[in-house]
Amino acid sequence: MDTRAVKLAPSILAADFAHLGKQVGEAEQAGADRIHIDIMDGHFVPNISMGVPIVASLRRVTRLPLEIHLMISDPDVFLDEFTEAGSDAFLVHWEGNNHVHRTVHRVKALGKRVSVAINPATPAAVLEEILHDVDQVVVMTVNPGFGHQPFIHTTLPKIRRVRQMINELKPGCDLEVDGGIDATTAPLVVSAGANVLVAGSAIFGEGDGVGAAMQRLRAAAHQAMT
Ligand code: DX5
Ligand code: ZN
Repeated sequence: MDTRAVKLAPSILAADFAHLGKQVGEAEQAGADRIHIDIMDGHFVPNISMGVPIVASLRRVTRLPLEIHLMISDPDVFLDEFTEAGSDAFLVHWEGNNHVHRTVHRVKALGKRVSVAINPATPAAVLEEILHDVDQVVVMTVNPGFGHQPFIHTTLPKIRRVRQMINELKPGCDLEVDGGIDATTAPLVVSAGANVLVAGSAIFGEGDGVGAAMQRLRAAAHQAMT
């Protein structure tokens, strides 16, 4: 895996919401590839977070693509609203959705990038029939719902399997990982084949600022090459 191509997606879940615009600006300055926005409904996951107005506000202060991670029970209901607010990409879960193919094609019909995300206990094989239709696959490396959780190491073989599947069936499809990514785990997931790293607390929760934290993550991802 060529780590020069590793992309960073800061998750604002760990940001200081009183200074959100400033922190996203710092991430943009430091070379973030996109901003990851976690939407939770207290039903699909045992937590609530933010909604459409955050996307509309951020759209006015950054040019970066806004990637919306929908951890909600009925994602189809909110796709239009999030799109109008300025979203560029949607992550929808395989779990809890009897009609993932339909949801994926709704996102495509809106002209937005689409990803399917799978939880730690969900096998890679469920992606096989939908891979051709998506721009990105997301392997959750924690159980979704909260920031700052420890990385689940048993997801590493699955990342390798998904990378293999992508290389065989859809080269060019991104492989994103989400949860517990920091300077220690970044080299592991990059070696396993991930090329997009979501990071919340490792970017917004560090004492020395967003830029320094992102530099550390990039350097760590490069370790995977040596
Ligand atoms: C978890 C979210 C993640 C979260 C990651 O449910 O999907 O995007 O913000 O946070 P960290 O990087 O702190 O594990
Ligand atoms: Zn997320």
